[in-house]
Parts: sequence; C-alpha cells; structure tokens
Amino acid sequence: RPPLRVALAGIGVVGGGVVRLLEANRDLIARRAGRAIEIVALSARDRHKDRGIDLSAYRWEDDMAALVAADDVDVVVEMIGGADGPALTLARQTLGAGKALVTANKAMIAHHGLDLARLAESTDTPLKYEAAVAGGIPVIKAIREGASANEIARVYGILNGTCNYILTLMEREGAGFAEALAAAQAEGYAEADPTFDVDGIDAAHKLSILASLCFGTKLDIGAVTANGIRNIIAADIREAEALGHRVRLIGMAERDEAGLSQHVQPCLVPADHPLAYVPGALNAVVAEGNFVGRLFFEGAGAGAGPTASAIVADIIDIARDEYGPAFAMPVDALDQAPVADAGAR
Ligand code: NDP
Ligand code: HSE
Repeated sequence: RPPLRVALAGIGVVGGGVVRLLEANRDLIARRAGRAIEIVALSARDRHKDRGIDLSAYRWEDDMAALVAADDVDVVVEMIGGADGPALTLARQTLGAGKALVTANKAMIAHHGLDLARLAESTDTPLKYEAAVAGGIPVIKAIREGASANEIARVYGILNGTCNYILTLMEREGAGFAEALAAAQAEGYAEADPTFDVDGIDAAHKLSILASLCFGTKLDIGAVTANGIRNIIAADIREAEALGHRVRLIGMAERDEAGLSQHVQPCLVPADHPLAYVPGALNAVVAEGNFVGRLFFEGAGAGAGPTASAIVADIIDIARDEYGPAFAMPVDALDQAPVADAGAR
C-alpha cells in the first residue's frame, strides 16, 4: 500500500516526541501498519526556533491551512493546544476537507468534541484523540473498544500528571508547591497555562471525555465540578500521612438512578489503595463494568515519549483503516442519551 502521509501542527514537547518516535521506530511501525508512515510537512509558530531536532528533511509551512490544502497530506496531527483558536480552526478545516485528524488536545475535545465528531462523520473521516486522556495509557481504546459490551457504573482515577508529580514531590521530598510546579513544567508535563493543571481543569476535560465514553452520553464539560491542588500545603500532606492516607487529585464520574455526577477534587486516599501508589507524573484509571469487573490502567500520563506513543498508535490505526465513531456511538445516537446531570452530591 502507498505510504500514509502525515502533517504535524505544533512542534513543542509533544510534536517533538512524535517526530522522534516516527523516526526511531520507522521500520517497526511500517511493518505493523502494513505501510510506511511518512512525515511530509510541519508547522508551528516560529520556524526559526531551535527545537533540538533536525527537521531539515521536512517541508515547513508557516500557514497551517496549507497543511490541509496540500495534496500530499492524508492525516493532520494537531499538537498546538487550546480549546479554540488555531487548533480548532485547523481541526475543522481538516475534517471538513475529508482528511483524518489526530489530536492530543483534551480541552478542544472536551469543548468541541461532539461538533468535530459530527463533522468527521459527515465526511466519513477518522477523528482520533488517544493522547488526550492519560497520556501514554491506551485508555480510550480500552474503554471504547475493549469494554464496549459493559454497563459501566463508575470511572475514576488520577488524570493529571502535573498534579500527581507535585503532590509526590511535596510528599517525598518536602518540596514546596511552587518549586514542585516549576519542576513539572521543566519536565514538559504542564499545560501551556499551568493553572489548567493545578486548578483541576485539565483533569475535568479528561473526565468529561471518559464519562462520555463509559456511559454513552454526550460530552458535557459544563457538568463537571473542578477543584484543584493550589491550596494544598505541606501540613495537609503530613496530616494525611499521620492518618494513614495520601492526598491525590481524583476525577470521578458515577452514574446511578439520580443521573450522572462528574467531580474533580483532592481526596484522601487510604495508603494501601492502588491509587495511593501511583507516583510522579503517572496516571491511573479505574473503570467498573458489569461483566468485566474492575479494570485498572496505570502508566505515564504526560511527557513527550508516552504522549507520542498514543498519537502514533492513532496514526497506525488510520493506516490500517481501523477506526469507528469517535465516541461510544455515532453522534446522532449520543444525542438521544437519556442520562441527566446529577449535580453535586
Ligand atoms: P507546547 O507548548 O510544548 O507546544 C505547542 C506547539 O504549538 C509549539 O510548537 C508552538 O509553536 C505551537 N503553537 C502554539 N500556538 C500556536 C499558534 N497560535 N499558531 C501556531 N502554532 C502554535 O505544548 P505541548 O506539546 O506540551 O502540548 C501540545 C498539546 O498536547 C496540547 O493540546 C496539550 O494539552 C497536549 N498534551 C500534552 C501533554 C504533555 O505531556 N505535554 C500530554 C498530553 C497531551 P512554537 O514552538 O513555534 O512556539
Ligand atoms: N498537563 C497534562 C498533565 C498533560 O499534566 O497531565 C497530559 O495530559
């Protein structure tokens, strides 16, 4: 089969990781995908920035729209970030042109995922976003495909690597909050605006996506309550430890007869609970299905390598023509979903 030709938009932490991965594992990926996957064009804000990678083999486009218009591009990979702005414009242009879109952008998917999925369905085009939730953990695929036969009652976990990294550093090394946040930023874990991480907004974006997949409901970011870790101080961590607990930022979505509740908040987790053992920038997701039982996924939730791993897995799926609706079912069916927001409990 002819190569699958890919354009990369955004060459920061994640985009740089995708270039490195596609170059390092080129032959292995071609064998598994059944065809070569080739980067043909790149775009970001500043073409002269030193990115620490040799990009001279690839065509550079200053105008992102040129990536979509180019005849030699089959897939656009959006790694810019932001719910709206250039990322959303590019996503709409790509799907509207009938080209495949891969994105790592949970903010955009949480706010505009249904509209983008509708557009993707109208042009029969793949829309893939594995990297948007829990970084390198293939949890979208596991829940959308692997657990799709189950009624899921509850999904919860550690959904933000930056917060978990900060809490772990405060706990283990007695680091202060600001110092720990700076370390997470230096590792490339934090969002461009780190308040999204520390105020629980990034975890809320991810939780809303997981909830839609688990419960077959429409994405509803407005129904998620979010509290972050900004006000956690060293004394809270020490007191939690004295009580045999650890502080973790937990996102939980639950469905019962009252409806669907979706909350992100710092929680006291018993020290012997599996979530208490999730260190650093790792994430963990637990989903409880009525036939499969409890599923527990753990892995790197942020960073260049793990995020690139999820993005390239999506590209390989597209190369194999393995894709279905972006969410649990086609958007028209999600529109009929009967679950009401249960609000705060
Ligand atoms: P970075 O800030 O490192 O990179 C963003 C890239 O987008 C840069 O190359 C930047 O260009 C480009 N860019 C930003 N604004 C514009 C604009 N207005 N026009 C054109 N290009 C623009 O972010 P990350 O790589 O960390 O994150 C990218 C996406 O991946 C986000 O959606 C994020 O939420 C998501 N994500 C990040 C993870 C992580 O661990 N970092 C993990 C999972 C998802 P330039 O370099 O020229 O400034
Ligand atoms: N800023 C995010 C985090 C990146 O720290 O989890 C991964 O989505």
